[in-house]
Amino acid sequence: MSDAHSGSPQQGPKGQDMWGGRFERKPAELMQAINVSIGVDRRLWAQDLAGSRAHAAMLSKQGVISRQDEAAIQDGLTRIEQEIESGAFPFREEYEDIHMNVEARLAELIGSAAGRLHTARSRNDQVALDFRLWVRDACDRSTARLKALQRALLAKAKAHADTLMPGFTHLQPAQPVTLGHHMMAYVEMFGRDASRFQDARARMNECPLGAAALAGSPFPIDRDATAAALGFDRPTANSLDSVSDRDFALEYLSAASICATHLSRLAEEIVIWVTPQFGFAKLTDAFTTGSSIMPQKRNPDAAELVRAKVGRIFGGLTSLTLVMKGLPLAYSKDMQEDKPPVFEAFEALDLSLAAMAGMIDDLLPNTERMAAAAGAGFSTATDLADWLVRELDLPFRQAHHITGATVKRAEALGVDLAQLPLAELQNIEPRITSGVYDVLSPQASVASRTSYGGTAPQAVRNQVARWEGLLK
Ligand code: ARG
Repeated sequence: MSDAHSGSPQQGPKGQDMWGGRFERKPAELMQAINVSIGVDRRLWAQDLAGSRAHAAMLSKQGVISRQDEAAIQDGLTRIEQEIESGAFPFREEYEDIHMNVEARLAELIGSAAGRLHTARSRNDQVALDFRLWVRDACDRSTARLKALQRALLAKAKAHADTLMPGFTHLQPAQPVTLGHHMMAYVEMFGRDASRFQDARARMNECPLGAAALAGSPFPIDRDATAAALGFDRPTANSLDSVSDRDFALEYLSAASICATHLSRLAEEIVIWVTPQFGFAKLTDAFTTGSSIMPQKRNPDAAELVRAKVGRIFGGLTSLTLVMKGLPLAYSKDMQEDKPPVFEAFEALDLSLAAMAGMIDDLLPNTERMAAAAGAGFSTATDLADWLVRELDLPFRQAHHITGATVKRAEALGVDLAQLPLAELQNIEPRITSGVYDVLSPQASVASRTSYGGTAPQAVRNQVARWEGLLK
């Protein structure tokens, strides 16, 4: 008999102690290799202990287990917590996952009372609970990171509410805007991201503990009590759904993917801005790297990596979606594959958000370059057209046409709109007066856009003030 298949039915080989009754042999090594998850789910230890504490307290209150057994269990769980925190806890692959590792250790520490903890519970509701608690925390941690990033953006926006820069569409100069306005656009995006995490958190805040394996429990358990003890709004309402639902993880990953998409856009802008060709901003030595061969280089590696992390994060969403697709009710072992994508996406997002906040703090805008670029590329052409509409009462389409001819003429002469002599303008439209020059500078253009949410410095200051209130 090979080693992998030996073991006496009485004692139950390690790892089968939990269900050894009808098993005669140890699992094959390959079975163990594909089944083991302790290397991944050991991260759920704090959640697992919290769930067990609440469960044991409820069982004893309901008279399902004795007060003495509960006390022994609580004491044993505290010792396990200390062991894990001090690094002394034996995480053992033969006990497969965090749930059985904790229970096996509890039995070693307190003896037979440990066996009562699993009354009216299954690993199916246990893992659903532990993972949900973990993802709930992840929502809060990602939200906190987002707020820190928003504060960094807000500080830049406040300092640069008047700083001119080109606004782009198609990455072609479109109309002048302010750097503060540009920063505030990202404050809005990250604000939506934070609210997505919080919406998901509110929806997932129902407790699956007590669903047991899939059908509920015949013991007089109090699901409201365990739900309340673990900070949930209520227990989940259907036991089959409770143990087979991973929507909370999918929602975390969706929110994370959208957030990572926003981060990648900002990262891309930083990469562009710090090129010598744009020269809109600089990152200091703190957020750049050099090249081992080209001494002149200063590379925005952190921005590039943030831009790339969206792959990992979105990959997590794809991965878990494919794990869940087509799974029949209720629990299937497929669902053990739910954790790596979430853990990995969380790590990637957490680091990306922190690195982005660091880069925004570090970013030194070159206000002269930005202002010069803001006026280039006939960026006030729309202001000319608007002037024609306002002052000469022309229909916008006609004004657009006249402005097009003006841009063409300026281009031919190699000058900006504001540098065109009045005679040239009047050649195109005789009714144009010198008053038009008031609207042709980028400062005037920006200052005129006072509509709600617009780029005028005062409108930007209003946006900043609003968010300062929201982020308090
Ligand atoms: N390690 C398992 C997981 O993460 C725990 C649940 C196991 N349940 C079962 N019926 N085998 O999904």
